[in-house]
Amino acid sequence: MYVGIDLGTSSVKVSLLDGRGNIIASATEKYPLYTPREGYNEQNPDDWWEQTVVALKKLDQKAGLKGVKAVSFSGQMHGMVCLDKDDKVIRPALLWNDQRTEKQTDYLNETIGIQKLVEATANRAVTGFTAPKVMWLKENEPENFKRIAKIMLPKDYVAYRISGVFATDVSDASGTLYFDVKNRKWSDYMLSVLGINEGMLPKVYESSDVVGLVTKEASALTGLPLDAKVVIGGGDQAVGAVGTGTVKGGSASISLGTSGVIFVASDSFKEEKNGALHNFCHANGGYHYMGVTLAAAYSYGWIAETLGIGDLSVLEKEIAELGIDDVVFTPYLCGERSPINAPSVKGSFYGLTSLTKRANLAKAVMEGVAFSLKDCLEVIRAAGVKVDKARVIGGGSRSDEWLKILADVLQVEICRVNTSDGGALGAGILAMVGDGLYKDVFTACDDIIKDECSFLPDASRAAKYEEKFKVYKKLQAFSLEMIKK
Ligand code: XUL
Repeated sequence: MYVGIDLGTSSVKVSLLDGRGNIIASATEKYPLYTPREGYNEQNPDDWWEQTVVALKKLDQKAGLKGVKAVSFSGQMHGMVCLDKDDKVIRPALLWNDQRTEKQTDYLNETIGIQKLVEATANRAVTGFTAPKVMWLKENEPENFKRIAKIMLPKDYVAYRISGVFATDVSDASGTLYFDVKNRKWSDYMLSVLGINEGMLPKVYESSDVVGLVTKEASALTGLPLDAKVVIGGGDQAVGAVGTGTVKGGSASISLGTSGVIFVASDSFKEEKNGALHNFCHANGGYHYMGVTLAAAYSYGWIAETLGIGDLSVLEKEIAELGIDDVVFTPYLCGERSPINAPSVKGSFYGLTSLTKRANLAKAVMEGVAFSLKDCLEVIRAAGVKVDKARVIGGGSRSDEWLKILADVLQVEICRVNTSDGGALGAGILAMVGDGLYKDVFTACDDIIKDECSFLPDASRAAKYEEKFKVYKKLQAFSLEMIKK
């Protein structure tokens, strides 16, 4: 038996899995999110630990944790947890979605410069990353900054409380912007920019490495066996990708949730000079790219609501009857992240005529999201990664029409998989690999995760979409022009 701990932003979910990846039982506990000011998002690391203990105790009562061989983690990324010399939490953690660091982020991108950042870390700065948070603390709470003895990421705090070992993994460390992704080690250059030293940072492991054993105290609190292995796990995106089997170089996963994420695994490091996408270490020993379009299923929900359509299956049927028309949508309802990194850009429809019906608008929304993902995929392809298949997860993946559009626009095979809880399964797989049940993540994924259905690209539709994508790019250029300072 194995335990996956998925430390999310609203709750922690702990799952007990057997060695085939079947989820035997799960337990979830919530914790508060504090927003002391607009754009500030904080959580108390001790809430994470206390609720993990409650959830594990419940899991023990439900299904028994005696047979557990190893435990591993999937964690919300980028958060800054600071401890003092007595291991006390100095202040609430600043989270991945905290927006207070715009000034520090601009300084990093504009004064240090994207080129230098990409050289040192493979990435540009975004407000969510940890490095600008460290700078914010230094500038705004110097007394707290001076007390720092340890800086760690959210899941690493829970792993520390379970094992007593100060450790992190390469996938989560990649999201700090003080990690040299290419060489899988802390970046001396960025540490000097931030004024911190390596002694304050955890030792870095690969995601399926065993870092220690469950301590006596943690065992008594949680019901986990005393000698169970603690496998460090990874950031939620990389671990979720393990849970969909996105591990071989060139394999991809797409999440059509509120926001859309395209995640592509790469066997080797490939630099992307503009830092347009996140370029991170994967939990499988390799690397991955990640692009985010901010309004994916959100855009579709928005158009359905705006058109007054409650039953999405009605809209889906109408869309299925359409060909490829001239209506183009840019899905920038909440600004856009990758690859244009333009928080204030606005969305648009183009190509309307008196014959445009509601289904044309809704289909254009699906296509617009697909174009935004293609825009990211083109950057990944240009960096030298060949992609021919993607597994799709998230609410939007229930729509066959959307998956067909994705296949034609991206020109890759699009599949749904036989698993739904990627975080729990991914963490479970890392625990199994750490325990030696599987020799590596690749073998485990091959064995456990299967395609359920697949949509293949059609050459003539793909050619039409190539033309439509050119219009999308023109609209994008126009939208960016409109927000130039
Ligand atoms: C990844 C990211 C989110 C958070 C929270 O870059 O910001 O996935 O980890 O889930």
